[in-house]
Amino acid sequence: MRLWVMSDIHLELTRGWDLPPAEARPDFDVMIVAGDLIPRAERGVGWLLERVPGRPVVYVMGNHEPYGEDIDIDLEKARTAAAGTNIHVLQNDTVRVGNVIFAGATLWTDFALHGDPHGAMVLAGDRMNDFKKIRRNSYKERFLPHHALTRHVKSWAFLEAEMRKPRGQDRLVVVTHHAPVRQMSSAASRRGIDYALDPAYRSDLTRLMVPAPDEGRGALRPADLWLYGHTHESFDAVIGETRVVSNAKGYGPWAPSMRTWDNPHFDERLIIEI
Ligand SMILES: [Fe+2]
Ligand SMILES: [Fe+2]
Repeated sequence: MRLWVMSDIHLELTRGWDLPPAEARPDFDVMIVAGDLIPRAERGVGWLLERVPGRPVVYVMGNHEPYGEDIDIDLEKARTAAAGTNIHVLQNDTVRVGNVIFAGATLWTDFALHGDPHGAMVLAGDRMNDFKKIRRNSYKERFLPHHALTRHVKSWAFLEAEMRKPRGQDRLVVVTHHAPVRQMSSAASRRGIDYALDPAYRSDLTRLMVPAPDEGRGALRPADLWLYGHTHESFDAVIGETRVVSNAKGYGPWAPSMRTWDNPHFDERLIIEI
């Protein structure tokens, strides 16, 4: 199965960039959009419906989708917009296409990357738009780092449960927005990402990439492929038994060429075969 993989298109800051026209697209079976397509996920669904008719699209909300919105209400709006179409908005749930199971979630993080989750949450709450621009509880409250942590725990527990289900010949592809690996690509590290905020971008979930015994819950068989976004980097490595890939565009394009963006290695035609 050929997966057309991308994330962090950031239509709100994309100024004229669009998907390649139909005749210039790679041959693909399923398109994967791993979050940060546009604020308000229902608009992202509409954008995809216009451009990618007829083939399944797996779409996971990033942290930017609920900006200016209630995080749960926006998910419901997106699911309503996608109902009965070829777009599948995944949040702690799965969709099957042929013999491939796609499991999706925004993921958020455990803030534990540097060993000080409390400090990392205070810093993120102070400095990140995520914890200023997103509402929850029917718009009544601000979405805060501890809410993100709660969602992270729920999502990795969901992903682990999927990995512990017997799946025979089926393949499992995980799609998240936040990164499941500790290391950043060398290109991303050169761009001077703020090291102190890194725990709000990535968690070390490599424990889910190695087999684990049954222990009464079913043996853990890692995903075959894990796709993510958020860090605006390109990444492709096999960790344990899982191939881990990111192909994020990031902000831009930038003048004067209008063909450069945050991640110079972004490939708008990237195909990953599973
Ligand atoms: Fe992004
Ligand atoms: Fe993001």
